[in-house]
Amino acid sequence: MLKNNGKKTAITVASTACICLLLLLVAVQHHRVQVDEERNGEDAGTRSLLQQQQQQEEEEDAQPGSAQVKRGFSAYFTKLTRGRREVEKPPRSSASTADPPPAEDINANDIFIAVKTTKKFHQSRLNLLLDTWISRNMQQTYIFTDGEDEELKKKIGSHAINTNCSAAHSRQALSCKMAVEYDKFIESGKKWFCHVDDDNYVNVRTLVKFLSQYPHTQDMYLGKPSLDRPIEATERLGDNKMKPVNFWFATGGAGFCVSRGLALKMSPWASGGHFMNTAEKIRLPDDCTIGYIIESVLGVPLTRSNLFHSHLENLQQVSRSEIHKQITLSYGMFENKSNIINLKGAFPVEEDPSRFKSVHCLLYPDTPWCPPQVAF
Ligand SMILES: *[C@@H]1O[C@H](CO)[C@@H](O)[C@H](O)[C@H]1NC(C)=O
Ligand SMILES: *[C@@H]1O[C@H](CO)[C@@H](O)[C@H](O)[C@H]1NC(C)=O
Repeated sequence: MLKNNGKKTAITVASTACICLLLLLVAVQHHRVQVDEERNGEDAGTRSLLQQQQQQEEEEDAQPGSAQVKRGFSAYFTKLTRGRREVEKPPRSSASTADPPPAEDINANDIFIAVKTTKKFHQSRLNLLLDTWISRNMQQTYIFTDGEDEELKKKIGSHAINTNCSAAHSRQALSCKMAVEYDKFIESGKKWFCHVDDDNYVNVRTLVKFLSQYPHTQDMYLGKPSLDRPIEATERLGDNKMKPVNFWFATGGAGFCVSRGLALKMSPWASGGHFMNTAEKIRLPDDCTIGYIIESVLGVPLTRSNLFHSHLENLQQVSRSEIHKQITLSYGMFENKSNIINLKGAFPVEEDPSRFKSVHCLLYPDTPWCPPQVAF
């Protein structure tokens, strides 16, 4: 009798302990998830997950009996955390966690890269690109300019496209070139349209990796806004009526990409002469007009990525150790000071003021003109 009672008490105590342990565990896990929510950095999330895993393993060593229950909870919360992170964060190839699985197996030939330039910059800007990143990507790069250039034709053949647009830096001239870029992309049959300027370095390997996260048949508009708020414009509706519109747009100077699926839907506003008409309707430059058609007319939101860079941002802020992970880079002048990335590379600034030659030697060290021993 007494022995039996003792056994019952032991069972009750054990059950209570078990329930307490479970409650404690739920509370602890809950707290961890909250802490995760409060932090914003990707690294913090990963670190917390690692700690969680480590702690769980330690607990399992001490309490082998409840390991299975705990693993269930842990897996559940891990899933929650991961799910939330996927919702909140735009996918970045610079993530410290493993790269997300590709949505599609694409290669560089699936991308149409349009470089916008003007005859005045063929020598000073375009040759630098032809010697660096374009030299490795002749098949997917198309140069849209406004004058004949036999030297350029010798280098890149039919991929040098004279748009016959005005060489002025006017809204109309820029829209005229974008219209030709759009039509040539549609004609090419490629999966992705990417536009860059003649002061952009494109790391095509990271671009391919980035785009492969998205199916090209879906509506995708990828890039980086240059403003911290949507642009406010006025749409001219005809018979003197005006309508205010707000939308985000990816700055053309940093480069942006549009999936084929979305580009086809843009056709009524972008193909043939329609793009110029649309640009006139809102009286904004080419990149804003793209944003207007996609966000305002078609209702597709811009997907932001910090891996695109224009000369309008402080390029010193691009982390030196992450330069090889960026999709586009740029250079420029601001108040007589050069705005360039901080890279101690193969060439000194005097020999390589844009830093593009040094970036190129970092990414393609087998390039014949790169110094054989590059010490960083
Ligand atoms: C520009 O004009 C030339 C000569 O008329 C023509 O061959 C070429 O196709 C035109 N370019 C475009 C993009 O229409
Ligand atoms: C930049 O340099 C030019 C020529 O050296 C000079 O005339 C101009 O005033 C300078 N501008 C600024 C903002 O310092």
